[in-house]
Amino acid sequence: MDANDMGDDLAAVLIDADQIQARLAELAIEIDADYAGKDLLLVGVLKGAVMVMADLARALHTAVEMDWMAVSSYGSGTRSSGVVRIIKDLDADLTDRHVLVVEDIVDSGLTLSWLLRNLSSRGPASLEVCTLLRKPEAQQAGSSKGEPPRVRYVGFDIPPEFVVGYGLDYAEKYRSLPFVGSLARHVYRPGK
Ligand code: IMP
Ligand code: MG
Repeated sequence: MDANDMGDDLAAVLIDADQIQARLAELAIEIDADYAGKDLLLVGVLKGAVMVMADLARALHTAVEMDWMAVSSYGSGTRSSGVVRIIKDLDADLTDRHVLVVEDIVDSGLTLSWLLRNLSSRGPASLEVCTLLRKPEAQQAGSSKGEPPRVRYVGFDIPPEFVVGYGLDYAEKYRSLPFVGSLARHVYRPGK
């Protein structure tokens, strides 16, 4: 699927496919250096992180294991609440493992904060986060909702708008776009 297939549903391409791959290659260099000599377990958060996981894992020289978790974050519309339920848990035991959580996007950070608390209780040797995208709210320390989660590797800081593509969806659509784009308003506000 590409921009042409979206017709007028696409407002703008924010980050194109080449920019994504170039940034993931840079992050892979950092991660390879930071985990030199260690076994790394990548934990992808379904479904959004599928594309980042696939491309980041292939850009790494470090041998990795990949495991997946699916969580649902209760919320209204496009906002998450921080009340999280595990839909699919990991197969791997995290005890004494070096764990890197791979995320598509950190918005309020509520989902990730919950996930990090949950995973750290399983006794990993280390626990870090790599996200392709981060919105401004996730960088604001000491907000009313508490400390934002610590994210070691960030692909791109983006404006606080709703984005789709490269794993990210709107109502389960547009995940297969090779770029990150913003949606035309008529898609999520029909009739307005
Ligand atoms: P948070 O708990 O507010 O950080 O929400 C994180 C989750 O909300 C992500 O894993 C996505 O599933 C979803 N999300 C947040 N912003 C966007 C967006 O702009 N496009 C698509 N999904 C998003
Ligand atoms: Mg996600």
